[in-house]
Formats: sequence, C-alpha cells, structure tokens
Amino acid sequence: MFSQNPYKAVRLTEHTYWVGAIDWKIRDFHGYSTNRGSTYNAYLILKEEPVLIDTVKAPFLPELLSRVSSVVEPEKIRYIISNHSEMDHSGCLPQVAKITKAEKIFASKNGVAALNSHFDLECDLKAVNDGEKLQLGGADLSFFETKMLHWPDSTITYFPEDKVLFSQDGFGMHFASGKLYADEIPRSMLEEEASRYYANILMPMSGLIRKLIDRLGELNLDISLLAPDHGPLYRRAEDIQWIIGKYLEWSKQLPNPKAVIVYDTMWGSTEIMARAIAEGVGETGIEYKVLPISGNHRSDVATEVLTSGALVVGSPTLNNGVFPSVSDVLTYLKGLKPKNLIGAAFGSYGWSGEASKRIAENLKDMGVELVAEPLMVRYVPKSEDLLKCRNLGAALGERLKELARNE
Ligand code: FEO
Repeated sequence: MFSQNPYKAVRLTEHTYWVGAIDWKIRDFHGYSTNRGSTYNAYLILKEEPVLIDTVKAPFLPELLSRVSSVVEPEKIRYIISNHSEMDHSGCLPQVAKITKAEKIFASKNGVAALNSHFDLECDLKAVNDGEKLQLGGADLSFFETKMLHWPDSTITYFPEDKVLFSQDGFGMHFASGKLYADEIPRSMLEEEASRYYANILMPMSGLIRKLIDRLGELNLDISLLAPDHGPLYRRAEDIQWIIGKYLEWSKQLPNPKAVIVYDTMWGSTEIMARAIAEGVGETGIEYKVLPISGNHRSDVATEVLTSGALVVGSPTLNNGVFPSVSDVLTYLKGLKPKNLIGAAFGSYGWSGEASKRIAENLKDMGVELVAEPLMVRYVPKSEDLLKCRNLGAALGERLKELARNE
C-alpha cells in the first residue's frame, strides 16, 4: 500500500512527520501577493496512536492523505489538533475527520467556536486551555494560546519528547519549495519572504508578538525544530534564534533610516515629483525606495514600510479625489497599523487638487508624523516645483537622521 502513494511523508524527528502540501500556483492570498507560492504544513506524530496536527487547504486533501498513507493508514488517526482554524489549515478538516474516524479534535476554546462556525463536524470537539498538557496517542503535548496571532483561536503546540514547537502561522512564510528546511534556502530569500509575511499578516499585532517572544523566553522550551504552518522549518539553533530575533526587531518598528515613496500617476507629473523627492532623500544619505503602484502590489508596499521610517505618498487628483490605486494602498496600510513613521503627501492636480490633502489626512489617521504640508503642483512641475520636491525629500531625510540619533 505504502509504495502506491505519489506523495510521501517526510520524517522530521523520531516521531514527527511532515504531511503537508505544496501550493506552487497561489499568487494571491486574500489580497497579499504570494509570488513564490506557499505550503500548508501539516504534521503527524506517530507513537502509540497517530496524532495529526493541522490539515491543509481543501483542494490539497489528496496530497495530505497520500503523505499520511505512506506511513500509516489514515483510518488509524485517533486525534487531530487544530492550532488555527483559518481555512488554509482547516479547509479539509471535515473530510479528514470523516475519513480518519478521529475520536476528537482539539483546539482552543475560540478554536472550537470557530470550527463550529465554519463546519458541521461530526466528531467531538474538545477545548484545551492555555498551558494545558495532554497525553495523546502516547505523546505528551502542551498547548499555549496565542490569541490574535493572528486569529482569536490561534494556539501553538509543543511536543517535548522530540523538542518540536508547532507554531501555526507564527514564524511562517509563503514559500513553495522542494526544500523543507530553512538552512537549505538562502538567508536573503528567507528574510524577504518572512518579512513579507510579517508585514502583511502580523504587523498589526506587533505588541502581541513581543509578548509572545517574552513568554517563549519564560517558558524556556527546549526547541530543536520550529515547525510553522507555512514555508520552511527551522532545525538549527542559529536559524531558530535568527527568526525569533527578526520577529523581535520587526515588532519594534523602529524609525529606520529608510524612506518609501509610493505613487501613481496620470500624465507623469506626480511621477516626476516622486523622483525629485527621492533625490532629496538620497542627498541626505538616507536609503530610499520608489514604488510606482503600477509595478508594485500593495503587499510590496507593506513589506517595505515594515523596515522604513518614512512613508511618502503621491497621487494626482482624479474626479476631486485620490487615484483609486493609491486609495487601495492607503486602505490596506491603515489596516496593518504601521508604527513610528514620518511622512508627507504630494501630487499634481488640474483645478481642484484634493488628492494630496486627502492623503495627508489618511496618513495622519494612521499616526504618521507629517513633516510638511501637502505638496501640490498644478498640471506639470516646473524647475522651481521640483526644487520644492527635492527640499521635501531632504527634510524627510534630515528628520529621519534626527530620529535615528535619538534611538
Ligand atoms: Fe495560514 Fe492564518 O492562516
């Protein structure tokens, strides 16, 4: 039977197997662009009786079942743990529960409520408490709630015998790869995708991330394998420390000496302004990134904002308002609650010129410290207008240097 399975389980530790799925195709994860695809990591603990930890997105059920079947008959799975009820991890849970005839599904109290709101599950759902320890299928397991990281139900599970921490979305990234471990992937690529994941999923919960890291320190768990629900797994101590350190750094959102200049343009005027602002920032020695929205996704902008201290947004005025593509980015960023930013608004206009003022209001709503009044240019910027843009860039750069000195 085992040789007939096209997808195989991968043994991770003495008792733990990876039985997830690789999604090479996904390019949009609820509005976040996933250029490198993703994985839905599910895990199987095989001791006296098999325990399944999380499942996969619904269309990947056959892959999950094939991997499970390569090491044990799925019907023998007695317990399922749902660390996170979002459907990329629970989408095939009803079918898995039916096929496996699982006796119980364990989740946090909020997880039980969420699963009941998603599905009509036939098997028994059991709520576990924060810090609770259970022996399931011969494996001692501890559960720790990580409420709002990033859903109310979120939980992590620790398997001390094999020193594995199943961290659901935490420390994950959308990254499809035939390589399972972080040490098999260039660090620069890991950082790009991990920061992208943090910025687009976890940035609003940065305060809770800091608390989680403090708590992990207090718990002093001996972790040999950090196993998230997306992307590569961390098996080397230096890699585990690296990703936890990165989370701590990102959660602080310090006013880094870097400016992001985001804009869209109708006839090129706002674009010329963006370029002149960038020039001014660069003259102060501050790093900058210019992101024309026509070539960048909203999630690219969020990722750059995570490691920046300044956000500068430009739009032409269209129909007495902000360009729709710029509004989209502002709406998205507002929801992600970036912190410790300075910024400015700019843009060209023909006769009414509301866009820059609206952008400035939006930035203020987001808590961005504005270094200048909105910079507006009628129709096409002249040399003196571009000098004003350059001066604005320089003012932003100088303010960032000042903030960096005070850190
Ligand atoms: Fe990977 Fe929040 O789901």
